[in-house]
Amino acid sequence: MGERFFLTTAIDYVNGLPHLGHAYEKTLADALARYQRLCGRSVLFLTGVDEHGQKVQQSARALALDPQDFCDRQTALFRSLWLRLDISFDRFARTTDPRHKEAVRGFLVRLREKGLLRFEEHEGFYSLRQEQFVTERERVGGRWPEIYGEVIPMREPNYFFLLSRFGERIRSAIESRPDWIVPAFRRQELLAALQRPLPELCLSRPRSRLAWGIPLPFDEQYVTYVWFDALLNYVSFAGDERGGTWWPADLQIIGKDILIPAHGIYWPAILEALELPLPRRLLVHGWWLNRGAKMSKSTGNAIDPVPYLDRYGSDALRYFLLREMTLGNDADFSDEKLLQRYQSDLANDLGNFAHRSLSMIARYRGGRVPGWVDSEAGPAEKEIAAAFDEAAYRNAFEEGDTSTALAVAWTFIGRANRYVDQAAPWRAARAPGSQKRLDLILATLAETLRRIAIFIEPALPRSSQKLLKELGISEPPLLSRAAFAPPRESYSVGVPEPLFPRIES
Ligand code: MSP
Repeated sequence: MGERFFLTTAIDYVNGLPHLGHAYEKTLADALARYQRLCGRSVLFLTGVDEHGQKVQQSARALALDPQDFCDRQTALFRSLWLRLDISFDRFARTTDPRHKEAVRGFLVRLREKGLLRFEEHEGFYSLRQEQFVTERERVGGRWPEIYGEVIPMREPNYFFLLSRFGERIRSAIESRPDWIVPAFRRQELLAALQRPLPELCLSRPRSRLAWGIPLPFDEQYVTYVWFDALLNYVSFAGDERGGTWWPADLQIIGKDILIPAHGIYWPAILEALELPLPRRLLVHGWWLNRGAKMSKSTGNAIDPVPYLDRYGSDALRYFLLREMTLGNDADFSDEKLLQRYQSDLANDLGNFAHRSLSMIARYRGGRVPGWVDSEAGPAEKEIAAAFDEAAYRNAFEEGDTSTALAVAWTFIGRANRYVDQAAPWRAARAPGSQKRLDLILATLAETLRRIAIFIEPALPRSSQKLLKELGISEPPLLSRAAFAPPRESYSVGVPEPLFPRIES
């Protein structure tokens, strides 16, 4: 086995339906997982769903369903959407999985044995939407920020995790890891938040108020706080086949709303408390907005990916999401932009090059790619052979910057189309004495198409597979096979099928 790479996504709440924002995060993680596989690494790609907590309990109740039945139903919707989007996850975490529940109970016992839990009566304010105590500090201009929903005074005995002990440790851990958070400005926000002393973290909820959770192993009158339960999925589902673990993750992908405090403060503190290593890196993405507004269930403006999958297909929606979002920022979704990208980048640039190349091989050589002859190659062939900026492509993917990686791939596709225009195989086909030249051009086109099929794989797995099949290539795509190396023997290719059929606006 080669080098290993473990990456995770946030696990989605199943109280609502999956929307375009969830789809983006899973697609981003998928492209990065596929990129790692393209580099020859063995990958564990973990995603899943967050099934406990108040919101799920309420949604189930509203439908008069047992919460587990409700979860089964909702989770099936997430999973099937991910399969339609070709999300190549290796494991799917469900927090209602009995093994996960046992693992969480084991971690709670460990915290207790280490003296890191305190049982005390706490009087304060409680946010119903966030299912947590909030402090006066959180008020802005005397009001509770919208994210907290209804906030009520509450007095309740609970189990608290001694989070305050970890503030300094986390801060120095983050300070000593300049690359821990991508993009870097998010790290600054987190370090600023860590300047203030941390309040203790309430880890329990009385069962009388919230029944849908993991019971505390040492006090069955309480269930576990949903974030503690959810964060631990990253470890509880990371076991490997040799009885070891994939943890620490090489990359954890999350949205900007769950960095502070969940993944930037609670998570490292919990890991430190359990003497587990921190993840190697967090990639924090921005939000997809629906014409400027945050998508949410409550405002009813969440975009459903399914109609777009029906109309454009999975590769096209993936490409749009991965190309249009610049790392860390927000992006605005619109039908016009998607159609525009489809027509220009996919139908014109990529689709056209593939179609022209394969149909000329069919027309002029009956579907056989001529064998390559070095001595025939001219400057144009040498240029296209060297045109792909692999270092820039790799760098961008290593940084999680899919937009730049795809821009690099599309620069190459643009060059490939220019090569066709300049080499003008149709002219060589007519000119007497140009048959060797025509052979060489066609071999260059087939080889260029093979390379493109490899470079687009992380974003467009279906198109990649289709092209490789048409080219008669059965080996799995690998970057180590992506150099220009046309075969010296001739070989047969299939008939081209349009990759991205025209769509009327
Ligand atoms: N269940 C928690 C995460 C627990 S992780 C241990 C949660 N779930 S969520 O369903 O609300 O969000 C899941 C992921 O989707 C988060 O990373 C969130 O940032 C992301 N997105 C939700 N809406 C989004 C957009 N509109 N755009 C992009 N991603 C967004 O938080």
